[in-house]
Amino acid sequence: MKGKDVLLICKSVHHGNTLKVAQRMAEVLDAVIEDPLQVTPEEINAYSLIGFGSGIYNRKPHSVLLHLVDTIEVQKQKKAFIFSTATFPWAPALQPLRDKLTHKGFILLGEFSCKGFIDEGIIKYFFGGLNKGRPNEKDLHEASVFAKNIRDNYLTTRVVKSGSSII
Ligand SMILES: Cc1cc2nc3c(=O)[nH]c(=O)nc-3n(C[C@H](O)[C@H](O)[C@H](O)COP(=O)(O)O)c2cc1C
Repeated sequence: MKGKDVLLICKSVHHGNTLKVAQRMAEVLDAVIEDPLQVTPEEINAYSLIGFGSGIYNRKPHSVLLHLVDTIEVQKQKKAFIFSTATFPWAPALQPLRDKLTHKGFILLGEFSCKGFIDEGIIKYFFGGLNKGRPNEKDLHEASVFAKNIRDNYLTTRVVKSGSSII
């Protein structure tokens, strides 16, 4: 764990789109990134804030991420957030993940979603791909702003915004 507070659990199987978002957030949050298949129950317990991220595949987050949440023990109001990329970011696609996390006692602090490149199936056949270049620099900047907001409002070991002291 190397003394870090934040774990980003990310499933990114198509073009690494969601992983790009995770990497930008990790720079801001000084976070560790892991695949759901690597994550142990001890790690879930040890980190104080966890980001759950995935591409959207057939209108849902990746089944491996959903399965991991099923196996996590009930938490005592541990802080969490969700991030995702999709062809068409659509809030209902994240509902299974939201439901499972709240059922397991996580407090959801927020969500970040942006478009991601796809060149799969008929989209590849007819269009050669959609959302070329996404996430782009603007998307990744917005991901970093989201992460800064989380850091400044919910990580207590960082700089206090209203003064010059560090706690
Ligand atoms: C098999 C497959 C199914 C997908 N299904 C959806 C979908 O239902 N809705 C959507 O908006 N995007 C869908 N996408 C697009 C991905 O969510 C998008 O490309 C995402 O950025 C992939 O993230 P990744 O590169 O991190 O895996 C699908 C992509 C693949 C490969």
